[in-house]
Amino acid sequence: MNFEHVDRVRPLLWQGDHLSVLDQRELPHRQIHLACRTSADVAQAIHVLAVRGAPAIGIAGAYGVVLAAHSVQASTGAEALQRIDAELHALALARPTAVNLHWAVQRMRNALAAMGTDWRDAVLLAAQAIQQEDLAANHRMGHLGAECLPEGARVLTHCNTGSLATAGFGTALGVIRAGIAAGRIAKVYASETRPWLQGSRLTIWELLQDGIPATLIVDSASAYLMQQGLVDAVIVGADRICANGDVANKIGTFAHALAARNLGVKVMVVAPSTTVDMGTAKGADIEIEQRPGTELTHIGGIEVGAKAAAVYNPVFDITPAACIDFLVTERGVITAPDSAKMTAFFSPLSSL
Ligand code: MRU
Repeated sequence: MNFEHVDRVRPLLWQGDHLSVLDQRELPHRQIHLACRTSADVAQAIHVLAVRGAPAIGIAGAYGVVLAAHSVQASTGAEALQRIDAELHALALARPTAVNLHWAVQRMRNALAAMGTDWRDAVLLAAQAIQQEDLAANHRMGHLGAECLPEGARVLTHCNTGSLATAGFGTALGVIRAGIAAGRIAKVYASETRPWLQGSRLTIWELLQDGIPATLIVDSASAYLMQQGLVDAVIVGADRICANGDVANKIGTFAHALAARNLGVKVMVVAPSTTVDMGTAKGADIEIEQRPGTELTHIGGIEVGAKAAAVYNPVFDITPAACIDFLVTERGVITAPDSAKMTAFFSPLSSL
C-alpha cells in the first residue's frame, strides 16, 4: 500500500554535517528546526523533549554517535570509539525509560568497533540504516495491527506514537494510518496526554497534516467513552517491553488499559523489536522517568493552579502483560503476551 498521502511529517533529517530536529516543544504553533552539531546538542534535544518518542530518540542517539565520531581524528573505528566513549555514555543517559536510546547507542558502538579505515562514511551509513529499518518496521506493523481490528473499528490512542515519534509513519499511529487507509477504522479518539499534551499538541496536529480526522478527549474521559460502548480498541505504543510482556509507556496508559479490560475493550500495544528488552524481567524493574513539577503547574509558561505543597510527576507507567490483547511488532503479532511467548519470539534478541 502507498502511504505517502497519509504520512508527510518527518522529525529528524540528516543535513550533511548536522542533525536537524523538528522542535516538538513548539508544536503545533511553530515549526522550528534545531541544528544539532555535537552529541551534546543531541543529548540536550532528547533531554528537553525537542525530540521525543522511543524510536525517534533512538534514531537521534544514533546520529549523536555520528556527530561525536566525526569530531575526532582516528585511523580506525575502534580508535574513534575509544576517544568518544565518555560522550556516548552521557548520550545514552539523556532519558532513562525508553530502551531504544540505549539500544541504538550500543548498536552504533558495536558497529564502530568493527569498522576499518573507511569508518567515517560507514558510521553515517550505520545510523541511516537504523532510521530506514524503523520506517520499514512501522509499515509492517501498520499492516499487521490493522488486520487485528474489526471492520469499522472505533479506536482510542494515547500520547503521540506517530511520525513525530519515529522515523516516520508511527507505531500505534501507524496502525491507525494503515487502518484508515484500508477503510477499517471508522473513528479515532486521541487523549490529550497530560501534562505535556503529546495528544492534543502533537497527535492531533500530525493527523491534521495527513488529513485524518480525530476527536480529542481529556485523559480521564476514556473509561466513560468505553462504558458508553464508543471504543472497540485502545491502541498505544511502548517505551520498553519486558521479558514477561509488561509494557512501560506514557503515564495514563495503564488507566486506559484497566478500563478497557474491565469493559471488554481490546488493548493493542504496537512497538518495533528495538523496544523489546529481554534483559529486564518485569515492569517493576524499569526506571520510570520523573520530570519537573512545572510541567503540571504551568501550561505554556503560565502558572495555572494554586501553589501545591508538592508535585509528583512520573511520566511513564507500567501496563501488566495480563491487560494486553495484542502485542504487535514487525516480527509478528503476539496475542495475550506472557513470558513463554516473549521468550519464543525474542530470545535471543540479536539485532544489535
Ligand atoms: O515522553 P515521551 O513523549 O517521549 O513519551 C512517548 C511515549 O510514551 C510513546 O507512547 C512511546 O515512546 C512510543 S512512540 C512510538
